[in-house]
Amino acid sequence: MIQIKEISAQETFPIRLEVLRKNIPLPFEFNGDFDDETFHLGAFKNDKLIAVSSYMKADNKNFSGNQYQLRGMATLTEYQGLGIGKLMLQEAVQILKEKNSNFLWCNARIAAVDFYKKQGFQTFGEKFEISYVGEHYMMFKKIK
Ligand SMILES: CC(C)(COP(=O)(O)OP(=O)(O)OC[C@H]1O[C@@H](n2cnc3c(N)ncnc32)[C@H](O)[C@@H]1OP(=O)(O)O)[C@@H](O)C(=O)NCCC(=O)NCCS
Repeated sequence: MIQIKEISAQETFPIRLEVLRKNIPLPFEFNGDFDDETFHLGAFKNDKLIAVSSYMKADNKNFSGNQYQLRGMATLTEYQGLGIGKLMLQEAVQILKEKNSNFLWCNARIAAVDFYKKQGFQTFGEKFEISYVGEHYMMFKKIK
């Protein structure tokens, strides 16, 4: 049984490091991690944290209204493809609705674009490069 719960920024760091920062010399701590409006979600299986994601209030000129940026979306390799990322995003959308948020956006790695599309995100604009990580698309999902 998988449980999705709010967690602290510090709790996200080990999975961010393992899944998103292996051989990538970029920080695993993000601007906004400790802001009051930021929230972090974790997926637990039998009390073991197996996936994380973070949601930060961040305006993007391409969208309007109350906006959040999704960052640090990662499921431990052995648990990928089991519906856990989807569950976390469903919970995030519920929380964002309660916060009257209009848009959730992210910079999606090419390899994850189809995952986000399945969760109702669309790409915006041209693909672009982020040093050390590779090509990305900006993606967004309308919440309200
Ligand atoms: C991308 C990632 C977060 C997805 O999480 P997950 O827990 O594996 O995803 P889920 O199992 O909930 O997938 C939900 C659906 O998307 C599909 N899916 C998952 N990852 C996919 C991918 N990379 N490409 C295409 N489809 C994908 C699943 O097959 C599933 O499809 P279904 O609903 O038809 O069964 C995870 O694979 C991951 O951590 N990848 C490495 C890090 C990464 O790239 N993070 C994103 C940075 S922008």
